[in-house]
Amino acid sequence: MSESRTIVVGVSGGVAAYKACHVIRDFTERGDSVRVVPTENALRFVGAATFEALSGHPVDTGVFERVEDVQHVRVGKEADLIVVAPATADLLARVAAGRADDLLAATILVATCPIVFAPAMHTEMWLNQATQENVATLRRRGMTVLEPAHGRLTGADSGPGRLLEPSTIAELARTVHTVGALPRTLEGVNVLISAGGTQENVDPVRYLGNRSSGRQGFALADIAAHKGANVTLVAGATDHLDTPAGATVVRVRSARELQSEMNARAAGADVIIMAAAVADYRPAMEATSKMKKGVTDLTAIDLVENPDVLRGLVDKRRAGETDAVIVGFAAETDTPLEYGRAKLERKGADMLMVNSVAGGKVFGEPRNGGWLLGRDGSVTEIADGYKHVVAARIWDAVESTLLN
Ligand code: CTP
Repeated sequence: MSESRTIVVGVSGGVAAYKACHVIRDFTERGDSVRVVPTENALRFVGAATFEALSGHPVDTGVFERVEDVQHVRVGKEADLIVVAPATADLLARVAAGRADDLLAATILVATCPIVFAPAMHTEMWLNQATQENVATLRRRGMTVLEPAHGRLTGADSGPGRLLEPSTIAELARTVHTVGALPRTLEGVNVLISAGGTQENVDPVRYLGNRSSGRQGFALADIAAHKGANVTLVAGATDHLDTPAGATVVRVRSARELQSEMNARAAGADVIIMAAAVADYRPAMEATSKMKKGVTDLTAIDLVENPDVLRGLVDKRRAGETDAVIVGFAAETDTPLEYGRAKLERKGADMLMVNSVAGGKVFGEPRNGGWLLGRDGSVTEIADGYKHVVAARIWDAVESTLLN
């Protein structure tokens, strides 16, 4: 994207402050101009020189520095986006109370642009009612408070409260800048998503696979998690992607494994999205030892058809075993709308997201786009954008047509 934004990166005082350096880097590498506003305590963890060098701008913490510049007003007004990473319990409390006792709090109070907080604190502090009420207040005011990641915290403890990965924070913040705040419209909704390509073993060394990266399915899971959903992600070959905050990730390899994990969870799901690229065929026989050239004829491998997972889920719904809304995906190289419409009918899903993949487009790429077809004949164009942006738009369409 060539559009250049002015992004304020606020940093509050937690050990994770060092990760803010990577968030800043992510923005500047995409051509955005970054202004870093740390709290006094943030500078106990990372020096001002680091933030100045990374952003190319001076760094102040108080409203009494460079007073002639009226910084707390100027910085807040100039910002296209404010991202606070890490956001401590104390910072969230101060913003919720409308305080302006340092440059960061004052900047936030002045700003009218989208504001995103990436919290980081110990689990007890995150779950404390005071913090939860402050978070609810900020969300009610239209700010986006991302869910913290679950995992290892500063000490030996583990749980929700860990800062999200810097690249995820940057991606989600850019998404909020493009589509607006992520409202908590999926709170209490059970979402089951499949993502990534399946792999069908030929022998212990070789497999048949496809080029799916899993990025779109992971982005859908990520956005759903930050909108409050309970997310289960059944993931094929996607080891390189970060786990969405709070999601339960079930790793699978083959189409049949994917099917059994999806089927086992379908009953409890409110929405099922089949974003996985399921292999249509598998070798009729899986060799137990490596097939050798000259010993086995590798020029012809007998294949058998894999089950159609999506169709199986639709059948389950017909049989009353789930009442989930079911969304499929289709990647087409030719006449995508025509093939997409026919596929939607054939599979019996409620919606089908059709991507055009002519010329190798989309697979593994950071961007995507296409059309979301509804069973009622509706066609919603999903403009070309980063996969998180596309995911947010898909959720908007799914929520407005199916959950209301
Ligand atoms: N799908 C599935 N099980 C399969 C194949 C596909 O559940 N064995 C799902 C995919 O996850 C996707 C949708 O069906 O949501 C469409 O996948 P696609 O590969 O485009 O459909 P196919 O039925 O394989 O049709 P094509 O002949 O175009 O490959």
